[in-house]
Amino acid sequence: MTAGIDDIAIYIPRLYIDAIDFAKARGLDPVKLQKGLGVSQMAIVDANQDPACLAANACLKIMQRNKLSPEDIGRLYVSTESAFDESKAMNSYVIGMLEQVYGQGAFEHCGGIETKFACVSGSYALYDNTNWIRAGEADDKAALVVVSDIAKYDMGSSGEMTQGAGAVVMLLNDKPRLLEFDPKVTATSIIDEYDFYRPFGKETPIVHGQYSNLLYLIQVRKALDAYKKKVVSTGLIKIEPGETILDHMDYINMHLPYSNMGKKALAYMVRHEWRQLPRWKRILQEIGMDEPVPKDPRGTIESVLGDAEFMAKDHEFTKLFSKTQEFQEVYESKLASSLIASTMIGNLYTASLYLGFRSSLEFEYQKGIDLEGKRVGFGSYGSGASAMVFSGVIQPEYKQVVKDMNLEVEIGERKRLTWDEYENLHENKLSIDESMVHTKKEFVLIDVKTETESRGERRYVFNE
Ligand code: CAA
Repeated sequence: MTAGIDDIAIYIPRLYIDAIDFAKARGLDPVKLQKGLGVSQMAIVDANQDPACLAANACLKIMQRNKLSPEDIGRLYVSTESAFDESKAMNSYVIGMLEQVYGQGAFEHCGGIETKFACVSGSYALYDNTNWIRAGEADDKAALVVVSDIAKYDMGSSGEMTQGAGAVVMLLNDKPRLLEFDPKVTATSIIDEYDFYRPFGKETPIVHGQYSNLLYLIQVRKALDAYKKKVVSTGLIKIEPGETILDHMDYINMHLPYSNMGKKALAYMVRHEWRQLPRWKRILQEIGMDEPVPKDPRGTIESVLGDAEFMAKDHEFTKLFSKTQEFQEVYESKLASSLIASTMIGNLYTASLYLGFRSSLEFEYQKGIDLEGKRVGFGSYGSGASAMVFSGVIQPEYKQVVKDMNLEVEIGERKRLTWDEYENLHENKLSIDESMVHTKKEFVLIDVKTETESRGERRYVFNE
């Protein structure tokens, strides 16, 4: 049985901090954010929003757009790393909100859980729900997989320039109009690491920035190697001599903690794949330097990062490689469109990969390219750490969905925050009833109880 993504909807908070204002306040060159990281605006949640209401708003959109009733939905999963309860799953809050619109008990038949593994958990949720459909257990019902996060870092930390917030929901079924997942090739890697984590009770993560960048690259490469073995052994793809697996992916979507990380990851994977090919000799000649090797090629991530000479040379090599015509072609044709939304919205943790996929569909379609039958590869990464590589094929009916995609319209009108407003929101100085904007037809948080017996209970309303 086939399964995949039928439709995709996003919900982005109505507030943002602009990279220019951020850089000015932090004494940084705005070009570092805009060009160095690929961050132009970062979405910020209002005082009356949490990741559950972002998720519920995205779900309502996709249900209304597809005229779905709760009876059409068999599973609702929420993947997040912004959880606010150690036990009660975020999807239960989402169900509660949706039932304010669809009636109490309307989703009673539905199942689902909250999944956690930093930014990769949404990919595991997609995989599990795809397999639920493939196994014939869905009873003609669809699954909703929502990825929802608030990427918030400590004031003044290096991560603060890579914040963002939002939710992406994907409707999965057995006749997907957008993308059918390739069966039996999903590949994973996993390792116990502390590159980025958020201990109990702490609102912001502890981050080892450059360490996390390198670990991301290594783990995704490992998952890609495992994916390659699977596509060959299942016969899904035949890799001819002189080719690489990446030649068989028409589009590549990467996890995007900031948009330029996608380009970095692509360059790393392409280097890894092309190194073995005859074309590599020509590329090295064009670059004009040999590919640098660390002093201890079998060393740890710390030893590689501590090898200043190697890091400087590798940085130079990557820059030159990224400018080669061969790489530019791959970048422009397979990845660039997926990065556009990220520059406008920022990091969405679990949702960033899927915002990228959504972005790629819209902007590739706008180029007039026929997307039917194109294979899309996904490189998902979650700190702590696990990576997942998988793929799917764009379906003949994709135009029915993609023709109406308009990111700016879907984001809606936004308010550019002043620095003081941003600081107040970041430091949680506003109470829930002091929200900056008053939205209509959206779920918002109205109360978080503080009394001993009901501490942590949350109340939401749908603003008519
Ligand atoms: N003009 C133009 N470019 C500039 C510049 C300027 N004035 N100053 C710096 N740059 C460029 C740098 O050259 C660099 O680009 P390249 O890597 O292509 O050379 C880029 O801007 C960033 O500069 P730095 O590497 O010096 O930036 P930093 O060390 O201060 O911070 C960061 C970068 C480590 C990613 C930091 O933002 C951070 O810690 N972020 C949070 C962690 C993170 O996102 N990790 C990613 C992997 S883990 C993950 O993916 C999970 C997740 O979602 C968090």
